[in-house]
Amino acid sequence: MFNSNHEQELIKRRTFAIISHPDAGKTTITEKMLLFGKAIRISGTIKGRGNTKYAKSDWMNIEKERGISVTTSVMQFTYKNILMNLLDTPGHQDFSEDTYRILTAVDFCLVVIDAAKGIEERTKKLIDVTRIHHTPIITFINKLDRDSREPIEILDQIEKELKFNCIPINWPISCGKNFKGVYHIYDKIIYFYKNKLFKKKFLNLKNFFNFSDGSLDKYIGKDLAIHIGQELELITNVYSEFNKENFLKSIITPVFFGSALSNFGIDYLLDSLIEWAPSPLYRQSNKRKVHPQEKKFTGFIFKIQANMDLKHRDRIAFMRIVSGQYTKGMKLKHVRVKKNITVSDAFIFLAGDRISINKAYPGDVIGLHNHGTIKIGDTFTEGEEIQFVGIPSFAPEIFRLIYLKNPLKQKQLKKGLVQLSEEGTVQIFRPILNNNLILGAIGILQFDVVIERLRLEYNIDAIYKKVNIVLARWIKSENNHSIYKFKKKYSTYLAYDTSNSLIYLAPSTANLNIVMTQNSDIIFNKIREQ
Ligand code: G4P
Repeated sequence: MFNSNHEQELIKRRTFAIISHPDAGKTTITEKMLLFGKAIRISGTIKGRGNTKYAKSDWMNIEKERGISVTTSVMQFTYKNILMNLLDTPGHQDFSEDTYRILTAVDFCLVVIDAAKGIEERTKKLIDVTRIHHTPIITFINKLDRDSREPIEILDQIEKELKFNCIPINWPISCGKNFKGVYHIYDKIIYFYKNKLFKKKFLNLKNFFNFSDGSLDKYIGKDLAIHIGQELELITNVYSEFNKENFLKSIITPVFFGSALSNFGIDYLLDSLIEWAPSPLYRQSNKRKVHPQEKKFTGFIFKIQANMDLKHRDRIAFMRIVSGQYTKGMKLKHVRVKKNITVSDAFIFLAGDRISINKAYPGDVIGLHNHGTIKIGDTFTEGEEIQFVGIPSFAPEIFRLIYLKNPLKQKQLKKGLVQLSEEGTVQIFRPILNNNLILGAIGILQFDVVIERLRLEYNIDAIYKKVNIVLARWIKSENNHSIYKFKKKYSTYLAYDTSNSLIYLAPSTANLNIVMTQNSDIIFNKIREQ
């Protein structure tokens, strides 16, 4: 194990991502966090965002439009001496398998829910991914300054659909035009929302009996005081007390209400976040658990991004450090290819520039130059032959048949597609029964990216045809004979991916359900380890 300086570096780090459905407020919260973290200079709304926000990653827009010091994929800021690593989860059209995989590289997530809409589809899918590592979740219910659904209704929905026990930490006092603020249940403080009348930002209720005894009437009105008093009585009976252990086990989620746009509620959300959320956690390898306190360096690649800087035209591999310490010039073993490399140019992004770094610690994410040798899921160590697990491929959700305008370039097409699939842009499937190439992705924009990059980087003109596939599941069985029989019977629907794993490409959900019921000796997996 390591010295106390290393321990200090661990204690002061938090690595997380924000999960939300588009438009729930992820970008707004990110901005406010940066403001509190003093990572950005100007406050206020991003101008002109409405037209351009879908063009690039949300963060790239923040960077471009405000000239601020954020990274494009990982952002570092300090809040009350805690170093926060916030990993971008591409959200709008650039939603992709990357978004899923980034969640495997963080230690906890903040879920943002629009109070008027409740839980939306994208949030459910992303929460499913956090279950792979039982990632702790903090929930922020946003936009209380607008008309919202009943808070209890939203908590019910979280419990039913996301399968967490909710622990409300604060409670909204009405919403929309009547939004008066929130009551912090544990600190017994009312935080007022734009309370011009009393010029009070908050009111400590330790000396008050309760909401219904009349003492709060002058602040929030008699009817509302009675109503909130009743709600609080109900929720203290229904919901248990916050328990950090259960939060870290991802059994409960603490829930905050607020309004990101008005910067209301983000500060005490951050306060709780640094108090409760874990410092860098261990990661599981194929041989053992690797702890951040260990002296020897280890890390894994969770994302590869091409052409981040058009001037460089290269690929960047993003590595999450698991243990030890990165120091400039250190020798690392690239375990899969069994090669040692000297890493002297690991970097982070700052204000759009690449800044070479001298030191980095567990929980940090560093960029490595990649000349085609590094793949997603690769492990780097100081010599130990281990492979981190839990950085999987996810079953694609949309599919296309790709073919060439000039059929003579089939070989280049395959090469280009294999490289793009190694970056995690798309997955490629070769059906058992024919020579077609089927592409699968999580986000639709990925298909456009592939066509564009094939044209620019490989000089290939390709086009798509629709294909009748709606779901994919990797096939496994303890019994080789079962696989043999299954392959024979369902060959029309089966294909191989680039790692030669067998995958079932279902034309409908009903078809998949029937096949799964009829073949109980076969395991149908939504994820596949690299
Ligand atoms: P996203 O990254 O999750 O997609 O959401 P984003 O922060 O971009 O927010 C989506 C829209 O919701 C934005 O409005 C934003 O201003 C608004 N918003 C975010 N938080 C709140 C809140 O607490 N209250 C209210 N009333 N609105 C909120 P827009 O009109 O789409 O963009 P813009 O023109 O305001 O930038």
